[in-house]
Amino acid sequence: MSVARPHLLMCPPDRYGIEYEINPWMSTERQADHALAGQQWRSLRQHLVDSGARISEVSPVDGLPDLVFTANAALIYRQQAVLARFKHEQRQGEEPYFERWLTAHGWEVLPSPRELSFEGAGDALFCGDTLFAGYRMRSDASGLQQIGELLGVRVLPLELVDPYYYHIDTCFCPLAPGHAIYFPGAFDEYGQKVLQEHVDKLIDVAEDEARSFACNAVVVGTTVVTNTGCPQLHDQLRDAGYQPIETPLSEFVKAGGSAKCLTLRLDGEEAAGWKS
Ligand code: ARG
Repeated sequence: MSVARPHLLMCPPDRYGIEYEINPWMSTERQADHALAGQQWRSLRQHLVDSGARISEVSPVDGLPDLVFTANAALIYRQQAVLARFKHEQRQGEEPYFERWLTAHGWEVLPSPRELSFEGAGDALFCGDTLFAGYRMRSDASGLQQIGELLGVRVLPLELVDPYYYHIDTCFCPLAPGHAIYFPGAFDEYGQKVLQEHVDKLIDVAEDEARSFACNAVVVGTTVVTNTGCPQLHDQLRDAGYQPIETPLSEFVKAGGSAKCLTLRLDGEEAAGWKS
């Protein structure tokens, strides 16, 4: 067992705002409250530190308001990072900043497959030895298979069918190998079956809680941090031996993001089979 502390990458929301609309949550007419966003971000960070995590930060950049959503930077696999290639040009400017940070901190950065979009850990999460990956909205299915070949891991591509759940981390959250949270309505029937067949214990999230980003949870040890508004999930998590924590993230929901999107796990998610 490794004694290293869980390590997360975050980006302070100094330059955060709703400057464009690339998912159904975003409206430039519904701005984020800057001061409140700062407060909410710092509380999330504090909860993660209190849960035992170490936080590294990438500096905010003017004109890149979504850089706060570090989950999308890359897919981390040991000391390799498959860099995101963002679908929307509004976010493509983030790529060199994430690349620079990862390279400077010792990761071997692998470009994602040419001509195909891929949005990092937002769309690809390990549960055990398998990479569960979301496609259609932001990442391309064939690119996901190529990434699996590149890293030598099995990929199960899952089609995302509801535009409100445009990244897989908005509707699926691995807790431990063989154990995950999911919102069935974000997947087609085939995807639901694949998840049921490949994850032993699945916790179903109700639609109203999924809308509160219940599945967009950060798992640090046995602590699970989510947005507010997910009481049923929290009960289920407690029953399963976890310590859920809620923290308000309303200002980030306005951009279509929540707890998990604001972090990138650098040392391997708790559920990743390859984690030492
Ligand atoms: N506004 C951002 C976008 O649409 C939010 C990203 C949320 N990130 C995530 N991993 N789900 O790309």
